[in-house]
Amino acid sequence: MTAANSGTFRIGGELSVNRLGFGAMRVTGPGVWGPPADRDEAIRVLRRLLELGIDFIDTADSYGPDVSEELIHEALHPYGKTVIATKAGLVRRGPNIWIPNGDPDYLIENANRSRDKLGIEIIDLWQLHRIDPRVPRDEQFAAIKLLLDSGVIRHAGLSEVSVEDIKAAQKVFPVATVQNRYNLAERGSEDVLNYCESHGIGFIPWYPLAAGDLARPGTVLDSIAMAHNAAPSQIALAWVLKRSSVMLPIPGTSKVKHLEENVAAANIVLKDDEFAAVDRAARA
Ligand SMILES: NC(=O)c1ccc[n+]([C@@H]2O[C@H](COP(=O)([O-])OP(=O)(O)OC[C@H]3O[C@@H](n4cnc5c(N)ncnc54)[C@H](OP(=O)(O)O)[C@@H]3O)[C@@H](O)[C@H]2O)c1
Repeated sequence: MTAANSGTFRIGGELSVNRLGFGAMRVTGPGVWGPPADRDEAIRVLRRLLELGIDFIDTADSYGPDVSEELIHEALHPYGKTVIATKAGLVRRGPNIWIPNGDPDYLIENANRSRDKLGIEIIDLWQLHRIDPRVPRDEQFAAIKLLLDSGVIRHAGLSEVSVEDIKAAQKVFPVATVQNRYNLAERGSEDVLNYCESHGIGFIPWYPLAAGDLARPGTVLDSIAMAHNAAPSQIALAWVLKRSSVMLPIPGTSKVKHLEENVAAANIVLKDDEFAAVDRAARA
């Protein structure tokens, strides 16, 4: 069982990672606030990633806040070839509260803080968590260019953006990745995914395990899951992986057992007719 079965992608055309990564938002407390309920298990999850061939980990300064980045440092530093991607641009005031802050000074300060928390010289991939509507987006993009030019970050990405946002950002800096909510049941970002595919931009779908009502007993997804002796969530993940070679899913969990189930999905090869049947059911 290894994430290497998901194939590889080069972030920014150079940093090679196995396509199935890990989202480290769930190694925090309820509402992505404070420490995890089972800290030892969270550390075990992070250490198990390496044994399972996962070399792409997504986090953010706001997960906890700080908790996720600090646990990653404790469990995995030094990181070797593992790529740690982080973000800034959302401020926390309590559980499940997320407030955009695109003030350029704030973004620069927090990228530097992430570097310290992670214990690294340069952040391989740093993402603008949200474009703050109260700040001109070009000012936020200029801050990203400054982070790239000053060597604080190696590659930069965006999150929850439109094709038009990406095109505007590309006038200022090379966009290496885009992270939008996308799963079998939520396909509102198909145009963004297609744009990423045609421009060699990594597309990082968040909430990739969800299948919604498609996973109900008796559905097409359910019968294909049974044929593969798999859970519907594993088929949902296998489907997302097959959808595009630029797809870098980052399912997250606080439990080793769930992590292993998710990595096992990289072994599932959907036949073209299965892929199409699930797609048709999702679109219907
Ligand atoms: N850019 C953004 O705005 C944004 C927003 C949200 C998330 N993200 C990133 O995307 C990552 C993934 O997103 P997500 O956490 O919302 O969605 P997800 O990974 O699709 O789902 C995670 C949820 O599913 C459960 N789970 C995971 N594996 C399971 C399994 N095998 N069986 C049963 N339940 C399982 C987890 O609970 P357990 O802990 O109990 O396993 C957790 O509640 C995050 O970690 C974060 O890095 C980004």
